[in-house]
Amino acid sequence: MLLWGRWQWVGGSDILVFMNKGPTSRAATVEIHRLRAGMVGMGMIFDETYRPFFEGVFAQPLFEPGVGVCEVALAAVATRTGQRADVYRQSSAGRLGAWQSFREPGAIEKLVAGDADFVCVASPDDRHFAAARAALAAGKHVLIEKPSVLSLAELDELDRLARAQGVLAKVVYHKLLDPDHKKLRTLVADGELAHINNGYCTLLEPKSIALGQFAQWIAGRNPGTYVAVHYIKLIDFTFGLRLKSVQCTGQRGIVGAADGPTWDSTQLRMIYAHEDGREASFDIHTSWVTPDNFPGYVEQEVQFRFDNGVWNGHSRKRGVECTVEGRTPLERKITINNHYNGTFLEPWNARSQRGYGIEVLERFVREVAQVEFGGPSAERDARLTKARSLTYNDLAADRQTVATVQAMEAILARHAAGQPNCVVQVNDQHGGLVLYVPGVAEPEVLYELRV
Ligand SMILES: NC(=O)c1ccc[n+]([C@@H]2O[C@H](COP(=O)([O-])OP(=O)(O)OC[C@H]3O[C@@H](n4cnc5c(N)ncnc54)[C@H](O)[C@@H]3O)[C@@H](O)[C@H]2O)c1
Repeated sequence: MLLWGRWQWVGGSDILVFMNKGPTSRAATVEIHRLRAGMVGMGMIFDETYRPFFEGVFAQPLFEPGVGVCEVALAAVATRTGQRADVYRQSSAGRLGAWQSFREPGAIEKLVAGDADFVCVASPDDRHFAAARAALAAGKHVLIEKPSVLSLAELDELDRLARAQGVLAKVVYHKLLDPDHKKLRTLVADGELAHINNGYCTLLEPKSIALGQFAQWIAGRNPGTYVAVHYIKLIDFTFGLRLKSVQCTGQRGIVGAADGPTWDSTQLRMIYAHEDGREASFDIHTSWVTPDNFPGYVEQEVQFRFDNGVWNGHSRKRGVECTVEGRTPLERKITINNHYNGTFLEPWNARSQRGYGIEVLERFVREVAQVEFGGPSAERDARLTKARSLTYNDLAADRQTVATVQAMEAILARHAAGQPNCVVQVNDQHGGLVLYVPGVAEPEVLYELRV
């Protein structure tokens, strides 16, 4: 349909009006809103997903039904040294508006004192809690990279603050938006794949990441919390079962000392119960010491077995293998995941960077836009409640995942201290999360309330 007319700003407000001069005299109005973002951490995940999101949305604002146009601007960043922010300021010239950079000490305090509407937390996982708490306390919506936090006590505190402040506290698990995982969940939800019994997942990161990019924070950490958590969430969210117990072991000696607290690889087992009492068990194997010349960027494989079917997924075998002399597999990987985050020449000749790693961030910003601008202010609480009911990303729905992470961390800490093979039971007679050491009668209660 051809529209006759012109766009016109209405008296200093954020409302753009299309003055229709066509057959009808109705004026179409499009509201222009703005959201400002704060960013904590500018490491690998910033570069892969947040950077293309902010640059993309700067070039083309979001349009959200019921909201209108929503411009999204990166307003400020907080990092440890400020160095990556300096480099990014140079490389992003012309692709973003003005933004401030704060470095330690006091970086997060300065960031949350500013005018950001929401804050994204992508610092190392043991630093998420402090940053998220500061942002929520300052009344900002918060988006935290996986794993959200490392204990249920921290989760309770952030959830309480978010409710008290009337803002969203959400977490990024981008694998839930992977089209393959969406298909898996669809078949489960529709009952076509019936009654999961067991399964395994693996995710292997290259050694150069653990020994290079992560060297600054990796001491005392493990790849289970860092990457198994993707699959903990996938299992927890997709199958909707009740967590019963957690076990974990692992290997050391490459990233740190063979008897120290830093882990090269981990093997986690989670046991869940269906409503009918039958059990389901899952093994998740992770590593961050895979050789760098491994052909895949990260090796990711899953298999889930049901009463009536088997689901096999392999991220490296989605169909593409590409060899370029002198470049693969180090500079460019042989098997490419074009679904997560790829750079493309679109058929209409525009350059783009897109994928579910970026889509998940856009979804969160649309949820914030709906809460703030999606209707009359008297109905904001109802919109907030609706956004909170989304269990794929709300912090309140992350309980069993955080419980597993807390259990895994406690088991590995005991192992490093000379007490291997502990088991954590969930919601037993002693408490919500209870650690049992072989040969020791008295359990340790990690979390008293029900998980
Ligand atoms: N969704 C995913 O698949 C995915 C992938 C990678 C990382 N992550 C998550 O993102 C987070 C960051 O990981 P990464 O790979 O980008 O790590 P990284 O080591 O590459 O970057 C960490 C960043 O955090 C900053 N930082 C460290 N301490 C800080 C502090 N106290 N205050 C402010 N900034 C601080 C550093 O300056 C750096 O910019 C982790 O929680 C990780 O689990 C998620």
